[in-house]
Amino acid sequence: MVCQLDRRNILVTGGCGFIGTNFIRHALDIRPDWHIVNLDLLTYAGNPENFNDLSLENKKRYSFIQGDIRDSDFLNSLFEKESFDGVIHFAAESHVDRSIQGPDVFVDTNVTGTFRLLEASLVSWKKAGRPDSFRFHHISTDEVYGSLGPDGYFTETTPYDPSSPYSASKAASDHFVNAYLKTFDLPSLITNCSNNYGPFQFPEKFIPLMILNIMEEKQLPVYGDGKNIRDWLYVIDHCEAIIKVFEEGKPGETYNIGGNAEYQNIDIVYLLCDMLDDRIGRFGNNSSRKLIQFVTDRPGHDRRYAIDATKIRNELGWMPRYTFDTGMKATIDWYMENVEWVNSVRSGEYREWIKNNYDKRKVK
Ligand code: NAD
Ligand code: TYD
Repeated sequence: MVCQLDRRNILVTGGCGFIGTNFIRHALDIRPDWHIVNLDLLTYAGNPENFNDLSLENKKRYSFIQGDIRDSDFLNSLFEKESFDGVIHFAAESHVDRSIQGPDVFVDTNVTGTFRLLEASLVSWKKAGRPDSFRFHHISTDEVYGSLGPDGYFTETTPYDPSSPYSASKAASDHFVNAYLKTFDLPSLITNCSNNYGPFQFPEKFIPLMILNIMEEKQLPVYGDGKNIRDWLYVIDHCEAIIKVFEEGKPGETYNIGGNAEYQNIDIVYLLCDMLDDRIGRFGNNSSRKLIQFVTDRPGHDRRYAIDATKIRNELGWMPRYTFDTGMKATIDWYMENVEWVNSVRSGEYREWIKNNYDKRKVK
């Protein structure tokens, strides 16, 4: 059943990051009855300027507040002031390589932060008389399931078996969400999604890093043998799935979201080289493929992720609309047209991270 309310006041956490930005921009466009409060700490991954070009109509239904999901006092006063109809929780530390170099903040933000947000939501939900229409939607990842062999898929009943501090922290946060539903009845939902790509993705992640390095003729660092497989999903498809689940999903349920687009990392790098070379006009001996460098692998590197998205398709009628080809073309277009955005997010901190992560990887 679709929740029927005249105006929905929705709290989105982490809305200045990659998926949150795409989600808010898309939701404001297609849900004219939503008012969105974007709560974001503005870590290195958050950029409030992603909303500078909203239409006047959308701006009226959007507000930004800088704050920390780990801060209970701040959360309690925000919930008191706003009385939210729902929470969509994206805020997290999200980069596996960073979680290997510095796991503490992953536990703080992803576990403690989620716990504090659940507490504030619960207090406010109880005060409001436990409205049935309230939803706490937790955005999680397929990485909680660990690594697949060459066959099989992750379903909603696959046992959790996380490999990295990042995925362990997301797994713990999922368990807290489930515990708040089972113990306190807080109406919550979890979606576990495969790797996203698209506009506004911070260029420490694989696809934007490769696109920009190709454009700038820098080395293309491929971890290990390059044969690790991810199931890629265009971010707008993910956003549409989230809206479906938020509005029509059943509290207590988990939904897996995937793009049905499994590729080895090395094949993606080849594809990006060829697509960009075509656009830039690099041919023959000049091919960007010569920039590829196989480098020391990531420790605990999961070999394969692949989602079985039958449940969300059968129960809620969601399917991805973008193919890998259309999604990748849109992504390349966006990075080529938004050089200013790229330069603005590549701060001193970013350059330091790149140096830190790649200088110590040996070329194989
Ligand atoms: P991101 O790193 O781009 O953005 C995270 C945002 O959270 C940033 O704006 C940051 O400022 C904010 N944030 C961090 N700590 C905070 C805190 N303590 N309080 C408030 N805000 C804080 O991440 P993303 O790629 O947009 O991922 C969003 C969510 O989706 C995450 O929960 C991630 O685990 C999940 N997810 C991501 C992918 C993917 O491929 N990117 C796939 C599946 C699931
Ligand atoms: P990433 O974007 O970090 O996502 P995740 O680790 O959450 O799946 O990486 C995607 C894949 O690309 C993963 O198998 C690691 C690999 N990778 C590289 O080979 N080189 C790189 O420089 C990066 C950042 C990732």
